[in-house]
Amino acid sequence: MGAPLKNIKACVFDAYGTLFDVSAAARRCSIELGERWLDFSAMWRKKQLEYTWLRTLMGDFKDFWHVTGDALDFTMDTYNIHDPALRTRLMELYLKLDTYPEVPKLLENLRDRGMKTVILSNGSRTMLTSAVRKAGIGHLLDDVFSVDEIEKFKIHPDVYQHAVDKLGVAKEKIAFQSANAWDAAGAMAFGLQVVWVNRFAQKKEKLGVINEPKHEIRSLDQFIGLLESS
Ligand code: LAC
Repeated sequence: MGAPLKNIKACVFDAYGTLFDVSAAARRCSIELGERWLDFSAMWRKKQLEYTWLRTLMGDFKDFWHVTGDALDFTMDTYNIHDPALRTRLMELYLKLDTYPEVPKLLENLRDRGMKTVILSNGSRTMLTSAVRKAGIGHLLDDVFSVDEIEKFKIHPDVYQHAVDKLGVAKEKIAFQSANAWDAAGAMAFGLQVVWVNRFAQKKEKLGVINEPKHEIRSLDQFIGLLESS
């Protein structure tokens, strides 16, 4: 798990993959998609992320809802699926993804300790409002920051700076949790204290040792342990 987190004043959480299970939409359509649903879901996610990086590089922002739809179209095309009703259902399901089970209890625990808790996500304002409502965690969050407010996606440093500005907390005093290794690397490069929630036992990104998160846990229920030992 690495050295303890020190002097943390705010806990900032990535949303998709970290709090919300991005494979839940395709899983719920596994009858329609058949046994390829998991590969389908992985391609959808991969394309969605690629489009965020490409759009940020091009300086041509479209919100995460738009990008998620484009990525779904690419994936359906690739799998030769031409089914508008299924597309609509998958997109609707993306607004109501499952929450990882340990999330509400962790947020409650952090709030009891007087810690600020926020989300910082690529998600559009509408998507995040919907996901937070479905999860029933709105009362456990101080705020939800969407990249809609700056029109750049992670891992542009401006995204992490946005959280610093909105919170009014120095970056060294922010613990940032993400299950996405590339997001964890981006936040490290920016200077946050980063916890990589390596839910799927993935390999480390090869983005330089300096950008490797110092803390790695397998699920968010291990997070308190990092704080308690500080
Ligand atoms: C997010 C994506 C990257 O919530 O998971 O920002």
